[in-house]
Amino acid sequence: SKPIVYITRCLPEDVVEPYRKHFQIDMWEYEDRPVDRNTLREKAAQADGLLTVLTEQVDDELLEQCKNLKIVANMAVGFDNIDVDAASKRNISVTNTPDVLTETTADLTFALMMATARRLVEASSYVKEGKWQNWSPLLLAGTDIHHKKIGIVGMGRIGEAVARRASGFSMDILYHNRSRKKEAEDELGATYRSLEALLEEADYVVCLTPHTPETEKMFDAEAFARMKKDAIFINASRGMTVDEDALIQALKTGEIAAAGLDVFAEEPIDADHPLLQMDNVVCLPHIGSATKETRYKMMELALENIKLVLSGSEPKTPVE
Ligand code: GLV
Ligand code: GLV
Repeated sequence: SKPIVYITRCLPEDVVEPYRKHFQIDMWEYEDRPVDRNTLREKAAQADGLLTVLTEQVDDELLEQCKNLKIVANMAVGFDNIDVDAASKRNISVTNTPDVLTETTADLTFALMMATARRLVEASSYVKEGKWQNWSPLLLAGTDIHHKKIGIVGMGRIGEAVARRASGFSMDILYHNRSRKKEAEDELGATYRSLEALLEEADYVVCLTPHTPETEKMFDAEAFARMKKDAIFINASRGMTVDEDALIQALKTGEIAAAGLDVFAEEPIDADHPLLQMDNVVCLPHIGSATKETRYKMMELALENIKLVLSGSEPKTPVE
């Protein structure tokens, strides 16, 4: 009989169909909510392969139930929802979806930075709400992007793709990363800085670092205090890299000017969260990789990884 694959989201049938000849595929069927923990536990316990998204916690307790499981294919580049050590010790492969989403996520990151700097969301509401009565010299005046300093924290694939965009806007490019990236320095003219120096110098601080125990709440009160008073903070990685209370405080007291956030410590964020009440905050519902083209590529890559592992081969994109 065919190996069993459980998919924790409702994926389009045209993507899944070609894999039905290889696997017995079972899918969570509700589009409006994530799989509940009990269903996930039951399904995972039977499965040879599991396709997850970032809302599923794949931890030791879950993996303990899985007697046949050989692969967890996460449909995301980040994998902080998966206990990779707990999987490794059971010889379960873990894969993610890097590369296919790099340029798409860099587009969104840059768009969010521009939207925040030029107050696009406020401006759009202003027109739609019928408030536009007049042209005036400082109406909805924002901040320049071109020729400013961008400080990229986390110079991975997406960080480099954002740096290429910044270079087209004649920005000065600073970066901080665990390791120096000589190629990025040569190709993009990016300059390495310690985190402290980057925070002090950058006009735009852009967080693209993965969430790990080392990066958890790295943007705290001290980090915001180091930033310029007119700095704009952008987060397109994971909300857990930020101490949100400290961010709210920094925005309220004018320690920084504005923030553009695609990610939050808790998702979905509560509608009455203080961050959503501030005019100088642009908020998006974690849509970094959300284009039709890229989401299809992510689904296909995750399914391909499952097919490779269940046929005894190496996956294309094991987590690093
Ligand atoms: C999205 O946040 C991802 O990690 O792909
Ligand atoms: C504004 O539209 C201008 O022409 O300066």
